[in-house]
Amino acid sequence: MLDVPRRLSPVELTQKQMLALFPTPMFTGKLSDLSLCDRIEAKLRRLQKLGKGTSSPEGAVLAYMTPDNIQTLPEMKELVDVIMDEAGIVLDTLAIKRKSHYISNMWANIANPNRRHNVHIHPNCLLSGLVYIKTPRNCGPTIFMSPRMLTKNIEPSYVRKNELNSDIFVSHAEKGRMLFWPSHLPHAVEQGTANESEERIVVAFNIMIRGLVELPTARLELR
Ligand SMILES: [Fe+2]
Repeated sequence: MLDVPRRLSPVELTQKQMLALFPTPMFTGKLSDLSLCDRIEAKLRRLQKLGKGTSSPEGAVLAYMTPDNIQTLPEMKELVDVIMDEAGIVLDTLAIKRKSHYISNMWANIANPNRRHNVHIHPNCLLSGLVYIKTPRNCGPTIFMSPRMLTKNIEPSYVRKNELNSDIFVSHAEKGRMLFWPSHLPHAVEQGTANESEERIVVAFNIMIRGLVELPTARLELR
């Protein structure tokens, strides 16, 4: 426990509360039918076999990425429907005015389960998300960083880590788990320690809205 001296004062503070200001909302859930992941994997493997998308050079650690418009493929519709429904719920929860919303980009990575991916954000969209399709045991987790992380010039040591003092959120890869987050949130894939006989497969996507944003001096027509 902390050894902080307490001063006994005749006046004390009442009606105390802690306000959690400006939170970063992360939404997550799990697909009710994991066989959807297997159907998606089969389609992605076909794309890979056909040479669509980009692959790491011969001899490098495996990293294949599909084209970034796979939301248009009929075989992806089952997953696209879930993403669209859930994105609608997220946008409603955030009370975002809009005419409609859509998936602006969607792609998949088939990679060595231990491969790192550098810190990045997803530009030109409002929400981003992913769904884990294949997750070998001990494959790399997704790491999310606080957007305020680099504004701290004093970092005390902590008795324990909790939601109020952590700058890092670790999402362990779990087949069928879907995440949605604000697109400005920096994230990365940490190195894994999995057996390399299996690959880690993730589908990622970005969400945008349509409609007129009626903000004085910041009016924007999104079609
Ligand atoms: Fe990403």
